[in-house]
Amino acid sequence: MQVRRVLLGISGGIAAYKAAELARRFTKAGCQVQAVMTESAQRFIGAQTLQALTGQPVRHSLWDEQAEAAMGHIELARWPDAIVIAPATANTLAKLAHGFADDLLTTLCLATDKPIFVAPAMNRLMWANAATQANIALLRQRGYTVIGPGSGAQACGEIGEGRLSEPEDIAAAVLAALTPAAPVAAGPLSGVKAVVTAGPTREPIDPVRFITNRSSGKQGYAVATALTALGADVTLISGPVNLAVPSGVRRVSVESAQDMLEATFAACAAADILVGTAAVADYRPLAVADQKIKKKTETLDLALTKNADILTEVRQRQPQLFIVGFAAETEKLAEHARGKLERKKLNLIAANWVGGGRAFDQDDNALQVYWNGGERALGPADKSEIARQLAALIAERYAIAETAPAVGAVAPTKASAAKAATKTKAKASTKTAVATKTAKKAVKK
Ligand code: C5P
Repeated sequence: MQVRRVLLGISGGIAAYKAAELARRFTKAGCQVQAVMTESAQRFIGAQTLQALTGQPVRHSLWDEQAEAAMGHIELARWPDAIVIAPATANTLAKLAHGFADDLLTTLCLATDKPIFVAPAMNRLMWANAATQANIALLRQRGYTVIGPGSGAQACGEIGEGRLSEPEDIAAAVLAALTPAAPVAAGPLSGVKAVVTAGPTREPIDPVRFITNRSSGKQGYAVATALTALGADVTLISGPVNLAVPSGVRRVSVESAQDMLEATFAACAAADILVGTAAVADYRPLAVADQKIKKKTETLDLALTKNADILTEVRQRQPQLFIVGFAAETEKLAEHARGKLERKKLNLIAANWVGGGRAFDQDDNALQVYWNGGERALGPADKSEIARQLAALIAERYAIAETAPAVGAVAPTKASAAKAATKTKAKASTKTAVATKTAKKAVKK
C-alpha cells in the first residue's frame, strides 16, 4: 500500500480534541502523520495524545533547536503529500489568508507547494463574519480546499454553522484527493474521478427539528455503484439515508444543503464528472432557534431563505467539469428539464416524473435523459438497472465531450488538448472507440 504523508495542523479551538480521532483515521488508512500544533491548540489537547496516536513527537515551535536539527521547518514543509488543518480557527485562517508566518504552522503553509486542506471550526457568528468569509474566499481562490464547516449545536451553546466537520468526513475528503486516479475496475471510466450527490438534505429549524424530503438516496447510491463498475473512482456525498456504503465507493456524509455544497466543492476540485442526484432542499429556515420552539401560539410562521444551487455554483467554479443533473417533475417534463439543462449549464439532465407515488422511495424508475442535441429514454426498470443504463450513457457522452467538444450552451469539458495529452494511450483509445460507436449510432438515427 502506498504510504501517504499527512501533516496535521491543529489550531486552538475546543474542537481540537477531534484532531485525535482524525489522526487515528489517517494512520488507520496507512498514512504517516506528523502533528503540528499552535501554542493555543496545546491548551485544548495534550501533545502526548497526538504523539501516541501518530508515533511521532509533535512539532509546535519554530525555535525548538532539537526538533529543527532533526528536520528543519523548510524540510518539514516539503515532507507531506498534504497539509490538513483541523480545526482551523478564524485566527489561523486570517493569518494564512494574509501571509503571516509568526508560528510553525503558518510558516510551513507559506513554505510549501503541497495541497492544503482547512476544516474551519468556530462560533457561528465568527464564521459568518465578513472578515472570515473574505479570508475563506481568498484561500479558496489560492487553491486551498475548505472542508465544512457543518452546522448544528456548538460547544458555546449556540446553534448554527461553524462546527468542525466529522473527522471521518475530513479524512475521506483528504484521502479522496490524495488517492491517485487508479482504476477500481477496468472500464470506459477507468481513471475518471466522479462525484455523486445523493439523498435528501436536512435543514434545521431548532435543536430537534428539521425540514427534509422523501428522497431515499437509492437512485444516487445505484448511480455511484454503476459508475464504479465502469471503472470510475467515485466519491458519494450523501445526505442522511439508511443505505450501506456501496463497495469501492468513498462516502462523505452531510446533513444540510450548505454542508453538501461545501463537501461537493471539496470533492469536485479533483473530479472529472459530477452527478447531482441529491434532492437538495431549495429553502432553509432563515434563522435556526437556539432552543426548542415551544407550542405557545395557534399558528407559527417559519421564514425560509433560498439555498444555493449546488450544480450552478460548481459550474461557476469549474466550467470544464462534466455535470449531470436530475429533474423531478410533476408536469411538462421535457420543457422543464431542458430549461434546467440550459440554465444550470449541464452536460446531461436525467428527468423523471414524480408525485402520485412515482420515483421517490420506490425501487423502480424511468428516466428521460436530455442533452444539447439529443435525448434517450431509460427504463422503466429497477433503480439499479436504470443506474447502469445511465452510467453507460454518461460514459458515452463524457467520451464524446472529451474527444469532440460539443457545440452549445455547455462549455467543452476537460477534454481539451492539455488533459487529453496527459491521459494514457490505452484510455484514449477506449474513449475514442466509445465515441466513434456513439457517433455512428447518432448518424444511424
Ligand atoms: O432546480 P431543481 O431543484 O429541480 O434541479 C434539480 C437538480 O439540481 C438535481 O440534480 C439536484 O441535485 C440539483 N440541485 C442542486 N442544488 C440545489 C437544488 C437542486 O444541486 N439547491
